[in-house]
Amino acid sequence: MKEIAALILAAGKGTRMKSDLVKVLHPLMGMPMLWYPIETVKKIGSRNIVVVVGYQAGRVRNTFDGEDIIFVEQKEQLGTGHAVLCAEQRLGNFRGDVLILCGDVPLIKEETVRKLVAVHQRKKSKVTVLTTILENPEGYGRIIKGENGDVLRIVEEKDASRAEREVQEVNTGIYCVDGPYLFRTLDKVGRVNEQSEYYLTDIVAIAAEDRESVVGFLAEDPSEVMGINNRRQMAKAIHVIRERIIDRLMLNGVTVIDPRTTFIERDVRIGRDTVICPGCYIRGASTIGQNCIVEQGSIVINSELGDGVVIKSYSVISDSKICGEASIGPFAHLRPGTELGSKVKIGNFVEVKKSKIGEGSKASHLSYLGDAVVGRGVNVGAGTITCNYDGKRKYETVIEDGVFIGSDTQFVAPVTIGECAYIGAGSTITRDVPSGSLALSRSRQVIKERREDKE
Ligand code: UD1
Ligand code: CA
Repeated sequence: MKEIAALILAAGKGTRMKSDLVKVLHPLMGMPMLWYPIETVKKIGSRNIVVVVGYQAGRVRNTFDGEDIIFVEQKEQLGTGHAVLCAEQRLGNFRGDVLILCGDVPLIKEETVRKLVAVHQRKKSKVTVLTTILENPEGYGRIIKGENGDVLRIVEEKDASRAEREVQEVNTGIYCVDGPYLFRTLDKVGRVNEQSEYYLTDIVAIAAEDRESVVGFLAEDPSEVMGINNRRQMAKAIHVIRERIIDRLMLNGVTVIDPRTTFIERDVRIGRDTVICPGCYIRGASTIGQNCIVEQGSIVINSELGDGVVIKSYSVISDSKICGEASIGPFAHLRPGTELGSKVKIGNFVEVKKSKIGEGSKASHLSYLGDAVVGRGVNVGAGTITCNYDGKRKYETVIEDGVFIGSDTQFVAPVTIGECAYIGAGSTITRDVPSGSLALSRSRQVIKERREDKE
């Protein structure tokens, strides 16, 4: 294979998105749109990756900070042809082929790009255009062919005649072009068209007139080359990415009961025989072990779940670590910094924040555990609350192994409860409780006769 440089166009604002954020930074399943074509060209093994930025250039650069990418700036967005010319100072001396992709065509697969390059090189083509056939070609540039099937030119929809608009074969915006030829030809492209832009697509007509070889290569799956210009198309693209991720997981042994309503981001890892129920959203760098169940409507973000963990319906878990066979929910909230030992049980309406809970401990109902260190085999009664905040600072509650906490207990932190201590229901604990003792702080019950009864 001849050496390949990649050029990704991403300077446009994306007016049709009606957004304050540049189009190529809109997230698709947790990754910015532009991340996808960059990833594809990296897989191809292209060492030169040039991205043309313009609108919100700084923001785009920062998003890809630290990656091996060369950014060039297109100050004014004068069209796709002009955008490519902005990369001339970087690629003008490059002798190989230049693969051109668009930041708003994110679903393109590595295999398809490889095939495009292979066809280009085998046919010794100067310009090879990736095309596709669409049921509804609206918005795309149309591929105009001669009688012998050669590609003659590409006409943008806004410039097309009625007959040309009928053509269903469209330009995907992805090309492989002989590098030196690309820049030589772009110098000849003008801007006499409906949008007064320098169209990159015009190099096709110029090459055809010069009797240089122009090849159209048809991508079979149109969903792969869908361009995203508005939020409706973006929703369709998200759907495609979501399906790809879930298909991969299912083929690796994960049961996804309803793929249509399940969102799993791409870096999530899930072990075999785990079941994901409808309406779950699993995000970020989450890892879920084998034989887990994540029930309906649960959200897991950047968390690690061991094997055999059960997340019951409508629980929200973020930045937490849960060991094997723990059971969470329904309606539980595990906030950042939660670490649960194996076989821990967190029941309904329990919130845990920045706390460690030891093996086999249980908080089954209606509790708040924040900044707590809870040992093993602890029973946290219903309605237990760690009062960890005095309005200024946060304090720690330490509950050692084997403690039994009666219902409706408050721990005014900082406070330590010694091993196997017993807290009577309804207590407000403000001082440390020694191991093995019983602490009670509720007032004694009194019974008085009611006056009315006397009369
Ligand atoms: C472009 C093609 C069209 C094709 C479609 C495929 C042209 C003239 N038209 O149309 O034939 O069917 O893509 O999706 O090329 N950009 C810049 N600088 C600019 C203008 C655009 O970097 O001055 C970037 C945009 O950020 C975007 C890409 O180029 O990533 C395509 O631009 P866009 O305006 O979306 O072109 P389309 O109208 O979709
Ligand atoms: Ca576009």
